[in-house]
Amino acid sequence: MRQKIVAGNWKMNKNWQDAVALASEIVNIFQDEIPASSHVKAILNPPFLYLSAIKKLLPENKNLFLGAQNCYNKASGAFTGEISAEMLASVGVQYTIIGHSERREYFGETSQMLAQKTDILLANNITPIFCCGEALDIREKGTHLEYVAQQLTEGVFHLSETDFQKIVIAYEPIWAIGTGKTATSAQAQEMHAYLRGHIAKKYGENIAQNTSILYGGSCNPQNAKELFSQTDVDGGLIGGASLKSRDFIEIVKSF
Ligand code: 13P
Repeated sequence: MRQKIVAGNWKMNKNWQDAVALASEIVNIFQDEIPASSHVKAILNPPFLYLSAIKKLLPENKNLFLGAQNCYNKASGAFTGEISAEMLASVGVQYTIIGHSERREYFGETSQMLAQKTDILLANNITPIFCCGEALDIREKGTHLEYVAQQLTEGVFHLSETDFQKIVIAYEPIWAIGTGKTATSAQAQEMHAYLRGHIAKKYGENIAQNTSILYGGSCNPQNAKELFSQTDVDGGLIGGASLKSRDFIEIVKSF
């Protein structure tokens, strides 16, 4: 069965005190309310600065994991201000978001850089959460399915079958990010099914059926259940609603 995942992308929010408070609240509520038998993995993706402190707050043997929001595409060296995959692994990071539309748009990240980031994360035993998604003009032109599939081709289809099975995909329509505008469950399902078919053509049906594809874009406690009930939606990448412990946990409970 495919893994069900809810990842909270905190983006550039929260000072130190507020970040620790949020993580502590999530850990406490999670321990109280999520049964040990739950198969949903929850991932906290705070800013880099807080990763090692938050790692210490996470209980062992629970479905709560630590993720970063980015890494650099080179192993080490003279890249002032950057953070490597090896550094992330050394503080216990298990997942890392790459190719978020904000990184692609504001920091000029290209498919080639993202392919390198994928490789370098896998080499450090970190699971990449590879983001893809179209802007509104592309959806209005009606070319969104092919456009997003091409992002996958360019970013992750160089991987071997073995490595491809280690990654997670997140579909985030840019027009739904932080806008309060969510893709309908039918729109999400259509894209997720299309991407799964695209993966099947390259890696075969079996691997495609085992790949987790998350939805992101104004996902909240009110709409998560409906989105997650779609056959090909395996969870969510949550922005704004992941900054409130109660909302984040309610989304985790939506499965
Ligand atoms: P929102 O949930 O705030 O729309 O953000 C989605 C997102 O970009 C998660 O990575």
